[in-house]
Parts: sequence; C-alpha cells; structure tokens
Amino acid sequence: ETLDATGLAILPGGIDVHVHFRDPGYTHKEDWSSGTIAAAFGGVTTVFDMPNTIPTVATPEILATKHAIAADKAYVDFGLYAVLGEESLDHVEGLVEGGVIGFKLYMGNTFGRIPSPDTGAMLELFERVAPTGMRVSLHAETNTIMERREKRLREAGRNDPLAHLDSRPAVVAVEAVERAATLAEWTGARIHILHISSKEELRPLAEAKARGVDITGETGPHYLMLSTDDYARCKGVIRVNPPVREADCHEPLWNALKDGTIDMIATDHAPHTPEEKTRSVIWNCDCGFPGVETQMPLMLTAVAEGRMDIHTYVRASSEAPAKSFGLYPQKGAILPGADADFAIFDLSEEWVIDDFNLHSLSRISPWHGRKVKGKLKHTLVRGAFVVRDGSLVETMKGHGRSVHTIQRMPPAEPRNTDKTIAAVTAVPASADMP
Ligand code: DOR
Ligand code: ZN
Ligand code: ZN
Repeated sequence: ETLDATGLAILPGGIDVHVHFRDPGYTHKEDWSSGTIAAAFGGVTTVFDMPNTIPTVATPEILATKHAIAADKAYVDFGLYAVLGEESLDHVEGLVEGGVIGFKLYMGNTFGRIPSPDTGAMLELFERVAPTGMRVSLHAETNTIMERREKRLREAGRNDPLAHLDSRPAVVAVEAVERAATLAEWTGARIHILHISSKEELRPLAEAKARGVDITGETGPHYLMLSTDDYARCKGVIRVNPPVREADCHEPLWNALKDGTIDMIATDHAPHTPEEKTRSVIWNCDCGFPGVETQMPLMLTAVAEGRMDIHTYVRASSEAPAKSFGLYPQKGAILPGADADFAIFDLSEEWVIDDFNLHSLSRISPWHGRKVKGKLKHTLVRGAFVVRDGSLVETMKGHGRSVHTIQRMPPAEPRNTDKTIAAVTAVPASADMP
C-alpha cells in the first residue's frame, strides 16, 4: 500500500492519557467503538481509559472483563486504568500483573461517586504502588469548596454558575497537588496530576519537580482556550470538573506547557448526552464533554497562530505521554508510537467544528461553531490505516490492542531514602517495647 502525502504533515499519533469511554456501564454516553472512532478521527492513536465505568475497575477480574470488551471494539490502541483506593489496596499487584497502564486516585468526588481515600490511606496506597513502578494519576481536587458553594446556591434557588466560579475554588487543587507531591516524595511513587486548570497549581507542581519528585502534569484545550467568559454562551455544556477558570489563567498555562512544567495535553474526554448536559438547573447538568476528536485540530490551530511551535506540541501530545507511562522506545523494543502510529493532517485546511459531525455518541460540546485550521486526512495505528482519505476503515474494529502487552513500566528508583531513614530512626527505641 502506498500513500501520496505530498503537502501533508505526518505527525506521531496523539496519546491521550485521560479519556472516559464509559464502557461497560454507561454505553448510552459512549462505548469502545464510538470512543475509539472519535479518537481515530482526531489523530489520536492511543487512549488511556479511566476506571469509573460499572463496575469500577478495582480487581483483576473486572479489569479482564473490561479488557475483553475494549479489545473487541477498539479501533485504536488503549491502556486501562484501575482505581487506587481502599477497594483495590489488596489487588495492586494483581492489577499490575493484569496489565493496567496506571492507577487513578480520586482525591475528590467524580462522576460515578468513587470514595476518596484520606491522607493516611493515600500514604498506604502510594507505598503499595511505588515498588511496582506504575504511575498514579490523580484527580487532585477535593471539591469541598465547590460542593459547599453549589449546595448553598442550589438551596437558594440560584441558577447562575458565575455566582461561584471565580478562581478561589482552585485553592483545593493547589492543596491537593501539594499533598500528593509530598506523599510521592516520601514513598517513591510516580504520580501524574490530571487536568491542571489554574495558574495557582503550577507552583506546587514546579516545586515538586525541582525537589526531584517523579511528577508529571497535564492540561487540556478547554483550560487553555475556554474560561468563565464562556458560561453565558455554553451554560451547562461547559460544566466540567475541575471547572474552566478565569481567562487570566490561559497565559500561565501556555507558558507552563512550553517550559515543560506541564508535560502533556490530555482531554478528559467525558461524554454525556445532550439531555444530561442541558438540564434547566445548571447544577444538575453532568460534568464534562467530549474532547478526544478536537484536541489535535484545536492545538494545531494554536500552533498555526504562533502560540507554540510544532515540536513543543508533539512533545506534549505524544512524546511526554509515552515517556511518562513507559511506552517510549527502549533498546530493541517495538512500541506504540515507534511502530508507525501516525496522524496525517492538512495543516492549511480550515473548517468549523460541528458537534453533529463528531463521532462521540455525546454530540454536544463547548467547541461547537469554533473555527480551526488543520484537518485530519489519515490515521495509522501500527502501520495500518484506520482512517483513510477522511473515511473510517470499518474492518479495523478490534484492531486496537492494550499497550501493556507491549511493554511494562520499569520499577521506580527509590527516592528520598535519607528522609525515610531519618523518619524511621527518629522513632524512639522505646516505641517498639511492650
Ligand atoms: O468533568 C468531569 N467528568 N470530571 C471528572 O472528574 C469525571 C468526568 C466524568 O467521568 O464524567
Ligand atoms: Zn478528574
Ligand atoms: Zn476525567
């Protein structure tokens, strides 16, 4: 097979480390077929799916069932997260053996109401994961302020999201990032901060990096390009957790992405139906919206506008995710991204995002009507066309493979041994005595 790519840009396929494909459990919102088709049309060749499906991915058996469903329907490669919480503490090694791409820890409430471990439990959980070398991705936000404000507004019959959406609730994210980084430093666990939304979170992230903590971070196009100014236009459709912040966060987030404080772009692709996104009381609208299909066009538009260069973008969309989650080429290995995962774009073609032409089942997003520059023409996963000349290759259903079958993350280097030893030896000898 040959392809004439004259005039087109051949990019490494995107690796989106944060999607919710809802299958099994909420297949009216999305499933492995619709989600991976959306990814393929977005130039994303590998996705990492979150564990808040039904049942929550907490045991090797549940993981195996979900793996079978995904392998059956996926058009692109995938990794599966397991939840890290009390319910999975004793399954950590089994889940690693079963091939998880990483663990997800919810420090605050989320869709699916997964319980959040307290700090003591987090310490134990990190200690358990650290020797496996797997990265723990954190929803680093404790939501208490948001929830309290929403509760009061709801009780007062207020339906105005701007009533509480100043940047102050970001303080719970700042505190959560700081706490997670401290626990990672003490245990040697590798961590990843999901959906960095505010300029305030950059300080604890940068400080942890400077101390040598193995910590990475992601932000998404919505935090770089949308703000509280968009509520009037989008209403419940833009409701997402964490929320988009005030527009003065954009510049610092772009700068952090350029200087590497933020390592990567991920979308938090979180589809819900139009009915679930347009309820008359804004607090009752489900949080999140699809993003896996629009990330690359939106970011390539920013590249075209000179916001960042293409090399920095590719680092954030493919290289950093691969390196952070153990998918980067190592001697003698054949790996995703290194085995011909390509997104081939016409960087000069302009088009307008239309929710009805997107492939997510969700069909509703705050990107509707946005002009972008950069149109996907072909997507190859492990050397095979999944999208060709702008059309899906239907026979590629089931082509997607779990990336864990390809490479295992190496164990973490022990970190901060001095501090650990100091902490242990600081316990008076008498403490051990009966
Ligand atoms: O907006 C969100 N949607 N935030 C989350 O943490 C979960 C996600 C979902 O699963 O819908
Ligand atoms: Zn989250
Ligand atoms: Zn999420």
